[in-house]
Order: sequence, then structure tokens, then C-alpha cells
Amino acid sequence: MRISKKKIVWGIVLILLIAGGVICKKRWGVWFHNKPEPEYVLTDKPQRVILTFGNEGELSRNVSWVCGGVSRQARLEYTQIGSEDTIWVDGVSKFFKTLGGFCYANWAKFKHLSYGKSYSYRVWNDGRASNWYSFSMQPDSVDRFSFIFVGDVQDTLKGKTRNFMENIRHRFPHVAFYAFAGDFIERPMNCYWEEAYQSVDSIAICYPLIVSPGNHEYKKGIVRVLEERFPYAFSYLLESRYKDNHVFSIDYKDATIITLDSNRDPWLQFSQREWLEEALKASDKKWKIVMLHHPLYSIKGTLNNITVRWMYDSLFRKYGVDLVLQGHEHNYARMTTKQDDEMTTPVFLVSHASPKGYRLSFNEKYDRFGTNHRFYQHIEVGEDTIHIRAFLEDNSLYDDLRIVKDDSEIQIIDESRSIPEILEMPGLKGKKAEEFKQNAAKWLKRKSVQ
Ligand SMILES: [Fe+2]
Repeated sequence: MRISKKKIVWGIVLILLIAGGVICKKRWGVWFHNKPEPEYVLTDKPQRVILTFGNEGELSRNVSWVCGGVSRQARLEYTQIGSEDTIWVDGVSKFFKTLGGFCYANWAKFKHLSYGKSYSYRVWNDGRASNWYSFSMQPDSVDRFSFIFVGDVQDTLKGKTRNFMENIRHRFPHVAFYAFAGDFIERPMNCYWEEAYQSVDSIAICYPLIVSPGNHEYKKGIVRVLEERFPYAFSYLLESRYKDNHVFSIDYKDATIITLDSNRDPWLQFSQREWLEEALKASDKKWKIVMLHHPLYSIKGTLNNITVRWMYDSLFRKYGVDLVLQGHEHNYARMTTKQDDEMTTPVFLVSHASPKGYRLSFNEKYDRFGTNHRFYQHIEVGEDTIHIRAFLEDNSLYDDLRIVKDDSEIQIIDESRSIPEILEMPGLKGKKAEEFKQNAAKWLKRKSVQ
């Protein structure tokens, strides 16, 4: 019996439709369901104060905060410590309603800040003021700086991130800023914003935060949308976003630091690619550091995040990006680029600080993995070296890598070889646990023959 071509085509279409329907049914909740937000009422007092970079270079700072009640006017009051002058700046106050309640989202810009000076400030809504806070600007003369990089936080309610962050703050009080690779909150709801804020409250008031948006900051749907609370909180995004891509770039000392929004649907990422190319082209700094949520080279499956890789990888290489900071996949992983068997840049890091761990799929492009722990990174950017150190939450050193660059060459110095890799997945049971054990053993064997 001969089957006509037409019937074969219709058969294939039918199979594809059925397969699509099954996948959609299975993934419906993950892709489209937004959990209802519990009701909340915010007090009238200005709260959740967050200091960030501004949009006018390394001396610019913004501040954001929220309040309940009624707000006609947001204002920022500040003074250079040791001077008599008080400066008042009008801010913006936006009524913001969500399914569980409402708040006013506020932000304002500091003006005329100077190198090496310290400032005291508080924020106002009409006649109500926050507490006083203070911060110091970086000195002009020092040609090196350091910052903390943290992957996904995504804490549970009444979670443990506060201790985690306080430990870092006490251990490294002299860093210039904190960078978070997205999924700063578990869900776009007031309760998770409050939880996340409490975990960084002592840091957010005095160190600028830079945060890339993660998928947990997005509202799900056919076309996913970043919930507006995110750019209100990290208000540099309000001016720097480009065609609905929440991107940002700042030159800090001799580095250009760029944050991308890897959550955009693939057909919307072309415009972001366009923006990235311009930002990289415009940089005349020695170091280029990019942060985004989704790892270009997935450690969950070879096809994961493939569109993000297609979009950005070639640009990172073309314009000499040194370091790529990523999150999302809830393990530690470090990959260097291999050229003639030598390690070179870009260096790709994946990290997380969440109580949730995910399954790791070994990817041979990587040098090193870490599981079942939360990690943080201290990154020092000097004249000719970027020194990356990753730590476990008990402060033990987990990774140690230097990127050394002079006019003629780039050298990678890996000091981590004597530190054993942690490859454990206690959450896995039965066949999956056995499979992971075997893959881990294979991975370690592969490393020992290199
Ligand atoms: Fe994520």
C-alpha cells in the first residue's frame, strides 16, 4: 500500500502537535502559572533602602526605597560628613499595585559626590523620614578594587541568607560593591522582597548593589515580563534599559562592568545583542566583566540556554571579555576558554547562594564543579590581574584563579588544584543517585589523567 506524501506530512504535523501538547501540559505550571500573592500592608515609613550605582559613571549613586500609606513627594536629604551643608534632592514616587496590596516605589539620585568622601543620608515621603545611613566613596588614587559576586539568592521565607551575607560583610568590609546574578528573590511578591531585603539590609544601605534580572523576577506568560518592582528597586535600569531589555553598563576604575538580561524570549534578544555590541565597542577599559543570569554553557544539559550562547558568546570573544559571572543553575562551576591546550579568557563562572541545589550534569568544557553548598566570590581587579576566589559559606577557599594580562599575552594561573572538588548530591535517590556517583567518578578520573 502506498501512502501519499500529503498523508505523511499530516502525520508528522499530528505527531508534533501531540508531542507539543504533552510537553505543554507537563510544563504548564512552570511556564505560565503565577502563584497568587498573599495580602500585605506596608507601613507608612520609608523602608527597604537600597543604594545602587547611577547612570553617570563611577561617581554616581541612586537610592531606592518603598513605603505604604500615601506619598505625594519623595525626597533625598544628605550631607557630606564633616561639612555643614545639607542637600535636598527631589525623587520620584510611583504608586505600584500588585495582586496582594500596594506600595509606593521611590528613587532619587545623589548629585556631585566626590572621591574619598563620606556621606550621611536619609529618605523622605512627605513628612516621614527613614533612619540615617551613611556610605563612603572610593578613593581616586587607588588603581585596584574588589567586589563580591553572589549567584542566585532565592531564599525561602525566614531563610538563612542574612547570616550568609553578614559573614561576607564582616570578612570583606573594604569591597567597592556587591554584584548579584539574578533570582535575587524567590517570587515577585512582597513577602519575598521583604525576605531578600532583610538578608542584605546592612549592605544595601552603604555598598552599591548591581543585580541582573533572573527568571524568578519575571511574571510568567506567553511573553514573560519583568515585574516593575525590580527596576524600581535597582533604579539604574530605568534609564539604561534598551528596547525593554534591562541592561546596564558602568566604567569603574579600569573595568567596564556590564549586566545583561538573559531572560528575554529569544526573538527579543536580538536588540540586546545590538546593545551589547555597542557597549563592548565603546569600552576602552583594560578589563571587561559581564554578568547575566543564565550560563552560556549550561551545567544542567547541553542544549539548555543555547539561544543565550548563540546571542552573546561570539561577542564576548570578539571584544575580549575577561570574566563572565552567571547563576541560575544552583551549583558552582568554572570554565576557562581553551586555546592550544592553554587556558585563556573568557573565564565563565556559575555560582549560587540559594538553599536549593539542582542536579549537575558534567560538562567537559569546565575545569571545576562544586555542589551541595552555597558559595560566594571575592574578586579583586588590579592593574594587571583579576584575582577570583570562591568560598564556601564557612569561608573555606574553594577556587582560586588569576587572570594576568599585559600588552602581549593573557595568562591564567589556577591555584585550586590542591582543593578537592565537592561532588555530592544527597537529594538524589536510587538510580539517579547511582548515575550521578558514576558520572562524578568518571569526571574525577578524567581530571586525574589530564
Ligand atoms: Fe534562575
